[in-house]
Amino acid sequence: MKKHLLILGASGQLGSALSNTSLWPKDYKITALTHAQLDIRDSTALQCLFKEKGPFQAVINASVFMPVDLCEKFPELGFQTNGFSLLPLATLCKMHETLLVHFSTDYVFDGLKKTPYTQLNSNYGFNW
Ligand SMILES: NC(=O)c1ccc[n+]([C@@H]2O[C@H](COP(=O)([O-])OP(=O)(O)OC[C@H]3O[C@@H](n4cnc5c(N)ncnc54)[C@H](OP(=O)(O)O)[C@@H]3O)[C@@H](O)[C@H]2O)c1
Repeated sequence: MKKHLLILGASGQLGSALSNTSLWPKDYKITALTHAQLDIRDSTALQCLFKEKGPFQAVINASVFMPVDLCEKFPELGFQTNGFSLLPLATLCKMHETLLVHFSTDYVFDGLKKTPYTQLNSNYGFNW
């Protein structure tokens, strides 16, 4: 059976590069969805996607609400897209034993730390 990869935010800079099927081995099936095809904030749509199109071996989340000044202007949209929507996605991935690849930014990690980052214990009531 082909390995099935799901790419979210597929029309962005990173997403469109990763959606180039010639990058991937021939035995990979790539499902690449743009913002218009799947809004990462829609947890019901995500659930349906996993149910109807899964299983996925990996989900690459290249969706992001940017740039930073727009996030500052519309913080709710920024938090929803770049933060809170990750919980349902990560939960689905955990339930389905799917690897989740998510990207951060130098606005969060400035690259100056000399030792590896460790996972934080969340103060938001969910620990993994
Ligand atoms: N590009 C870089 O050099 C770079 C460097 C460091 C880190 N990163 C990280 O890599 C990731 C991708 O960045 P990028 O540069 O590829 O960004 P980008 O070009 O702005 O692409 C982001 C994509 O996400 C989509 N999107 C926005 N809201 C969404 C939603 N609610 N649901 C689904 N899709 C949504 C956008 O679609 P619409 O435009 O249609 O809204 C767009 O296609 C980010 O996490 C970023 O921090 C990128």
